[in-house]
Amino acid sequence: MEKITERLSALIGDAFVSAGFDYSFGEVSLSNRKDLCQYQCNGSLKAAKQFKQAPLAIARQIAQIVQNHPMLARVEAIQPGFINLDIRDDFLVNYLLEMNASEAFGIHRGHQNETILLDFGGPNVAKPLHVGHLRSAIIGESIKRLTRIYGYTTIGDIHLGDWGLQMGLVITELHERYPGWNCFAEGFSGDFDPSIQLTSEMLNEVYPTASAKSKADTYYYDLAQQATLELQRGRNGYRVLWKAIVQTSVDDMKLSYNRLGVSFDLWYGESDADQYVGQLLEILTQKNLMRLSEGAMVVDVEAEDDTAPMPPVIIKKSNDSIMYATSDLATIIERQKDFQPQKIWYVVDNRQNLHFTQVFRVARKADLIPESTDLQFLGFGTMNGKDGKPYKTREGGIMRLSDLIDNAKDAAYEKLSTSEYVVGNELDILAEKVGVAAIKFGDLINHRRKDYIFDLDKFLAFEGKTGSYLLYSITRINSILNKVQQNNDELASLGTITSDSERQLMLVLATTQDVFDRALLEQAPNYIAENVYTIAVSFSKFYSENNIVFEKDKETQAGWISLLKLTRKIMIFHLDILGIETVENM
Ligand code: ARG
Repeated sequence: MEKITERLSALIGDAFVSAGFDYSFGEVSLSNRKDLCQYQCNGSLKAAKQFKQAPLAIARQIAQIVQNHPMLARVEAIQPGFINLDIRDDFLVNYLLEMNASEAFGIHRGHQNETILLDFGGPNVAKPLHVGHLRSAIIGESIKRLTRIYGYTTIGDIHLGDWGLQMGLVITELHERYPGWNCFAEGFSGDFDPSIQLTSEMLNEVYPTASAKSKADTYYYDLAQQATLELQRGRNGYRVLWKAIVQTSVDDMKLSYNRLGVSFDLWYGESDADQYVGQLLEILTQKNLMRLSEGAMVVDVEAEDDTAPMPPVIIKKSNDSIMYATSDLATIIERQKDFQPQKIWYVVDNRQNLHFTQVFRVARKADLIPESTDLQFLGFGTMNGKDGKPYKTREGGIMRLSDLIDNAKDAAYEKLSTSEYVVGNELDILAEKVGVAAIKFGDLINHRRKDYIFDLDKFLAFEGKTGSYLLYSITRINSILNKVQQNNDELASLGTITSDSERQLMLVLATTQDVFDRALLEQAPNYIAENVYTIAVSFSKFYSENNIVFEKDKETQAGWISLLKLTRKIMIFHLDILGIETVENM
């Protein structure tokens, strides 16, 4: 379905053409001065430059041409040459009804034949999920949902860190503690002993211990290196133990991801790409891209216009071990073979920007994917504490993700315990939803590239740009619709617009597609978060100015009730993209 901005652009574009200018000058956008007009076109300024005429004169000419058009309530040319536009109420109302009747509120679902491989999550096995994994999970989940609305086949891959030194460390430490386990026997060829119960608590203790030991003791470090190599070369006893470690760790991760409403289609890891490392080395050798540097094999990726240092990419170290970049390159080969995606997008911390620039350059040089394949690094900023430094526990340690969710839930529970609607077990479920909504909205309201401060009190407040406020707004709509016994999604006519607050609410609802388009273009869900907040505020104003429940004129009341239903549907549509579940009461 064409957006209002597109319909207006066509109208104004045609007017420019009939006045002897280019069609493209007619581009209309949402007004950034809502107090002055609803839509605007700044093309006269560009046309004026090109044709050396006064911009205001051009704007007046265009306004003259379109002034009686049935879409427009008002068109005005103002200094220095802007064209301000307001649309007619009946056009707005009909547009909303058309939106309501369309799939996905009219968003073009035209990308049916395109696949996006979305790499997000990225936790490392044997370490518990911590707050550093939060952003990738919730931003990635949101981008996954957003792209699917547009018809893309989006495949979410968690890309576990399951192949590096941390695995060797855990194996070494377990070997020291439990030398009698069958898997440690020389030449062992069987399965992992099913009577051994690995637990995540155990791994959460073993890994940091091993890591600390390896830093203090080079012998221990060498053992861990050796264990890593033997694992990678396929020593069976290590492989079966490794599988059990990965399984234990993954089961634990799933608990937190499930609570956050985050899911992955593929639970692949760096280990899955290992079988493609040979092929990668062959390609790089064949294309003569590698050179020897201090015993290591590297690829140069410097470009002439680089403004910052661009070190060569290490593919293989002198001891034959492979690097992080190697594994990402092998993964690209794997993804190309399995899915031939049109896009591979990585939702990873900003601090890995250089790594991905290097990986993409090697991938292009080696033609690992077709030229048309879009490789993008979707970096995100850091979640900081109130001190402006990366978020920590009160004791200064790294906070577990499950603890963070628990904290949010407990705080929500406390706030909600005075609720008259919800008690007992239901309160527990509600607190979890409100807590998670607070965390997610508090994150997603910021542009992903920016750092932000995690402030639970603020995130849980019932006013301001918060998840709680949005969930609460929807419960208010629910309660009005209950009062008039119309708590359903069936829309009657929207009637005629009787007040400015009603018009304003309708205008924001009508921007849904513009906002989603922008979010997709920048892969930035914050625009959707911002818009659903604007809708909530506009609803609140409309509601406070119009007594919906006691309205005497039945036709007016029916129109308002329909508007509330549409508002709720569109708000839920936004929140769903953010991965936020709504609640009936709170
Ligand atoms: N496991 C990595 C880390 O903890 C993140 C993985 C991101 N994805 C990727 N394809 N490199 O830093």
